[in-house]
Amino acid sequence: MEQEPVSRLVGVCKTFQGFNRETRVLKDIDFEIRPGELVLLLGPSGSGKSTFLTILAGLQAPTSGEVWLFGKELQTYTPATLQELRAAKLGFIFQTFHLIDALTALENILLVMKFTNTNERAATSRAKELLEQFGILYLKDAYPRTMSQGEKQRVAIARALANNAQLIIADEPTGSLATDQGMQIVLLLSNLAKKENRSIILTSHDQRIIPYADRVLFLQDGVLS
Ligand SMILES: Nc1ncnc2c1ncn2[C@@H]1O[C@H](COP(=O)(O)OP(=O)(O)O)[C@@H](O)[C@H]1O
Ligand SMILES: [Mg+2]
Repeated sequence: MEQEPVSRLVGVCKTFQGFNRETRVLKDIDFEIRPGELVLLLGPSGSGKSTFLTILAGLQAPTSGEVWLFGKELQTYTPATLQELRAAKLGFIFQTFHLIDALTALENILLVMKFTNTNERAATSRAKELLEQFGILYLKDAYPRTMSQGEKQRVAIARALANNAQLIIADEPTGSLATDQGMQIVLLLSNLAKKENRSIILTSHDQRIIPYADRVLFLQDGVLS
């Protein structure tokens, strides 16, 4: 039996009001992603990929249309429930990393597990395991300002995976990484989707990711195809 979509968009439009004109970034988008799927979203810069992902994650509202997450329409969740849901079931890897500057790599990862009340010893061991897996255990006690872009990106990815999220949303996760590192990350995400039945949606410019994706979508002129 086919599993329920983890996330679904129905007729989603997004328009930004500019000073004297409006930009229609998303035009009547329908989308769904199921457990175990890795979906790749390609599109030129400025085509609305980041906007699409933030709407999918409920971080910004569409101008019109429906956004469903884990079987319910977003508007039917209370803000508190939505926040809990995001903390426990959603991993977001932002294009700009969003690491907390005052915390070390280890602490950045531990923080997201605090939101789900993970026992501290289990959390520390999980965080170290992730840092090891991404080849950055040496950054355990390092602060973001001392890290390269590629290092920050790997910490951000480790953090997004800390809570065993069901849906992982990754905005150009390989953008700041050297080619082989980028491919390693994609391979790891693809294994995660297959072995642990997670749903992963990622955006990229890199055509070499195509073979790892179950589905490839193109966003252009506000239309998904
Ligand atoms: N908050 C905003 N206000 C106004 N315009 C925005 C906003 N966010 C994005 N845009 C515009 O929407 C379009 C798509 O942006 P974005 O989703 O970042 O594209 P991509 O991630 O594909 O590069 C761009 O033209 C951008 O300038
Ligand atoms: Mg973007």
